[in-house]
Amino acid sequence: MKIIDNHWDYISRWTDDFLYGGPAEETVRLPHTVKILPLHDADSNDYQGMVGYRKTVEFDASENGRRQFLQFDGAAHIAEVYFNEKKIMVHKCGYTGFRTEITDLVMYGEKNTIVLKLDTSENPSVPPFGFVIDYLTYGGIYRDVKIDSRPYAYIEDAFLYTPDLHTLHISLKTSGTDGSEKVHIRVLDQKGNTVTETEGSEGENEIPCGTVSCWTPESPVLYTCEITLAGKQQDVQNYTFGFRTISTDENNILLNGQPYFLRGLNRHQCWPYAGYAMPASLQKEDARILKEELGVNAVRTSHYPQSHDFLDACDSLGILVFTEIPGWQHIGDSDWKKQAMINTEDMVKQYRNHTSIVLWGVRINESQDDDELYRETNRIAHTLDPTRPTSGVRYFENSSLLEDVYSYNDFSHDGKAPGCRRKQDVTKEKKPLLITESNGHMFPTKSCDRWERRQEHALRHARVMDSAMKDHEHAGVFQWCMFDYPTHRDFGSGDRICYHGVMDSFRNPKLAAAFYASQSETAPVLEIGSSMDIGDYDGGHLDTVYAFTNCDEVKLYRGNDFVKSFVSQGWKGLKHGPVKIDDLIGELLESRENLHGKQEKLVHDALLSAQRNGNGHLPLKTMMQLGWCMIRYGMKYSDGASLYGKYVGGWGGEQAIWKFVGIKNSKPAVTVIKAPETKLHLEVKASSCVLHEGSTYDAAAFRIRVLDEYNNTAVYAQLPVSFKVSGPLKIIGPDMVSAEGGMCGTYLKTVGKEGTGTLTVHTAQTEDAVIEITVKGREEL
Ligand code: GAL
Repeated sequence: MKIIDNHWDYISRWTDDFLYGGPAEETVRLPHTVKILPLHDADSNDYQGMVGYRKTVEFDASENGRRQFLQFDGAAHIAEVYFNEKKIMVHKCGYTGFRTEITDLVMYGEKNTIVLKLDTSENPSVPPFGFVIDYLTYGGIYRDVKIDSRPYAYIEDAFLYTPDLHTLHISLKTSGTDGSEKVHIRVLDQKGNTVTETEGSEGENEIPCGTVSCWTPESPVLYTCEITLAGKQQDVQNYTFGFRTISTDENNILLNGQPYFLRGLNRHQCWPYAGYAMPASLQKEDARILKEELGVNAVRTSHYPQSHDFLDACDSLGILVFTEIPGWQHIGDSDWKKQAMINTEDMVKQYRNHTSIVLWGVRINESQDDDELYRETNRIAHTLDPTRPTSGVRYFENSSLLEDVYSYNDFSHDGKAPGCRRKQDVTKEKKPLLITESNGHMFPTKSCDRWERRQEHALRHARVMDSAMKDHEHAGVFQWCMFDYPTHRDFGSGDRICYHGVMDSFRNPKLAAAFYASQSETAPVLEIGSSMDIGDYDGGHLDTVYAFTNCDEVKLYRGNDFVKSFVSQGWKGLKHGPVKIDDLIGELLESRENLHGKQEKLVHDALLSAQRNGNGHLPLKTMMQLGWCMIRYGMKYSDGASLYGKYVGGWGGEQAIWKFVGIKNSKPAVTVIKAPETKLHLEVKASSCVLHEGSTYDAAAFRIRVLDEYNNTAVYAQLPVSFKVSGPLKIIGPDMVSAEGGMCGTYLKTVGKEGTGTLTVHTAQTEDAVIEITVKGREEL
């Protein structure tokens, strides 16, 4: 398939004249967004309108006799396609692809014109529109456009699945044949060695593959199936697949026959400034972040089918995917419902060869029951794909369950209530119960919020996951959500951002991200819930703090003195529950003060009590203990006050240096130091420093953090950060931003040329960070 993303004429206000060669405003490349939006206060009116795209394509005379197809992978939202001025199709979904044959319209050796009249408005006649929606729905041709040139007889479709772990099944559809032609099928392993080869034909083909490796998130082994339809001209198509089965029992989703708990997050498909329009590299980067940085094994593509590039990365990295039809709470009239059925069909047909997808969401997210509609969407999904269970997301209990899995947004945890509801309170059905959202709007948390809130945010994610994992009544949890996202005026924190992410909009980690990371074993993780700066505490009293870690034990030191060792306790579901650090005095009295036996324990208890209750609110028991110390050990009031000042109060003394050492397998694995910051520096993480020009532009994400000398994020360093770019690169968005919670980001795109360039990140309080970037290749004509 030939990608034709370059050189599109564009007008932001459609005129019929444009269809016949009328003037364009600019030339653009795809993926394209109709409007670059600000990070805060983005306005949904700014991307709504009727726009036009136009491109000239040439077909060589040698192509004559072949069949030609025009394919759009995604254009938001209602697209009218014209080829050589003739209207050839209308597609009414901004989240599924569309394709049509243009063979009879192509003029060989001449210029042909593709025009797309695109309604980018939130048109209530099609899903997801018709009511309020908690996310922006940016307009534009934001995925690739392709020309697919095929021989007259060609492979129209192949659906590949593995009914068991050593058989490949192919449902094959050819076109331009009489139905009796044979195809050659070859299965190749990752190294390109042939696993098996055989003859196949139109219809159902079962291919025994012998001993093969099965696909799991832990070992996502993929194979390639090459199908060749012989003829005057051969049609050769390659498909990627993994050997895996997916099924359900009463409580579980079974991967390869075994219960597999889905531990995941919800993902929207947007970025700051560019909206939906980002090329393959950044789609894949999100999957990498989910897998490698957040350590999850599953993702829900809320609330619509997402880029094939993202899903390809889920296939190859090993992330289980729940993909659903577009929609948000609202169900429209009968035409609207018909479109929802078309969307179900398109979603399943277009995405069913992704091994990573294990569930089809065939209900409108959080809609009311509508048995007539959902009987049909279930029927469509099961007919087009007998291998995967269906589900659909609701927020209420005991809803009519026509699907195979009861998906439920469980927002019951409010900090005090248990992490999730019991299954018996949600559904009486003997089918698996999956939590598809939790937290989110229940506890919006900004990266610049005070430490208590950020810590509680992380703890709430931990509590929900722990509850669902320990009760053996849940098949998995997708929490809300991967990163902060812009939304409509009816939602958000006043600046139209939902601060619901475990990462910020740029995919910088909040503390809650460390909870997710701590559930995986890939690298030692240790993050502390507080900066331990007394000025961030009421009265300067340090308090209980949590460590998010996958270490076996956390050893705490004050300066060089050992305080105490802490382990995770009371978490029954999580492999690595957060570690409560509730004694900052520990052995310090013993090592530093000259106290005697029982006196040391009494003073220790009294100081901890003062820390918890505040000096002016000591419980009677503590007062009595202190009184006893005065009588029995001759302690004076001033002795108590001085110990209090040293170990609890802190206001007026020299601030402590706290050292947390994560111990794994009896060895120090990771150290975190919390101490007064004196010097800031920048950390810039690039998604890639090598970009590739060609059939479209490439882009890189730069995640930026202001760090102290111990590499902790300087959370309150809301510094102005400016960007300067040299070489064949352009900034997407502004060249000056504010660090929020000590973090920000930017995006660079290539501009058609090869060469090297730099991104300089500047703040007045740090040294500049300079990143070198190489652009390979040139814009294809
Ligand atoms: C849910 C909804 C999500 C998001 C979330 C915030 O009700 O499905 O799209 O709005 O709430 O918590």
